[in-house]
Amino acid sequence: MWQRKKINLAENSMDTLFRNVFIAGFILVGGAIILHSVLFPAVRQCSLSVRAVIRKFVFLFSMVLLEQKLGPIGRLRKLAWLVAAVCFLVLFVTGFGPRILCGVPLSGWLLMIHATFAPVFAVCVAFLAATWAWQCCFSVRDWDWVVRLFTFKWKGLLVDSDLGWKLSFWAMILLVLPVSLSIVSSMFPIFGTHGQEVLFQLHRFTALALSLVALAHLYLVLRGRCKAEQN
Ligand code: HEM
Repeated sequence: MWQRKKINLAENSMDTLFRNVFIAGFILVGGAIILHSVLFPAVRQCSLSVRAVIRKFVFLFSMVLLEQKLGPIGRLRKLAWLVAAVCFLVLFVTGFGPRILCGVPLSGWLLMIHATFAPVFAVCVAFLAATWAWQCCFSVRDWDWVVRLFTFKWKGLLVDSDLGWKLSFWAMILLVLPVSLSIVSSMFPIFGTHGQEVLFQLHRFTALALSLVALAHLYLVLRGRCKAEQN
C-alpha cells in the first residue's frame, strides 16, 4: 500500500516536472527566436501590405512543392522531408497533447496513431540523414565562426552563419536515436519495471528536446531561404 502510494507520488511529480519543462522550453526557445528576428531581421524592409503578405504565403507554399529542376534523388528527398514533417506533427500532437492539455497519459486511439506514424518517421529521418549529410558538413567558414567566438570578435556574429542550421540538423539526427531506441527497448522485458519507467521518461524528455531543436532549425532554415530570395 505504502509502496504503491510512493510510486504514484513519484509518477505525479515527474508528470508535473515534464509539464513545467515543456512550457519553460517553448517559452525560452520561442522567446529567443522572436528576440533574434527582431534584433537581426532577415528582410531589410518588412512590408505588411496585402501584396507582401500574399507573396510570403506563396513563397512558403512553394517550399513544399516539387521543383522541376530536382532530379530523382532530390524529389525523393523532398518527399521524405514532407512525410517526415507530417509524421512529426502527428507524433507531436498525439505525444504531448493528452499530457499537456488534459493531464492524462497517451492511450487508446491516440497511442495507436502515435505508434503507427513512428516507424514511418524513423525511416524517413534515416533516409534524410543519409542523403542530406554532405550538405550539412562543416566548412572552413563554420570553423572561422568558432574562432571569432573564442577570440571575442563578436561583431555580426549572430547575423549570418550557416553553423546554426547545420548544428541543429545534426542535433536532430542524434536526438532521434534516444527518442526511438528508448521506447523500442522499453517494449522488451529486459530492463525490469523501474528500467521501463526510466526509458519512458527518457523517451518523452528527448522527444521534447527534439521538438525544441526542430523549431530552432525551422526558424534558421526559413531565415536562410528568405535571405537567399531577397538577394
Ligand atoms: C520515433 C519513434 C517513436 C516511437 C516508436 C514512439 C512510441 C511511443 C509509445 C509506444 C509511447 C507510449 C509509452 C507508454 O505509455 O508507456 C510514446 C509516448 C510518448 N511519445 Fe513517442 N514515439 C516515437 C517518437 C516520438 C516523437 C518524435 C515524439 C515527439 C515529437 C514523441 C512524443 C511522445 C511523448 C511526449 C510521449 C509521452 C506521452 C505521455 O506522457 O503519456 N514520440 N511514444
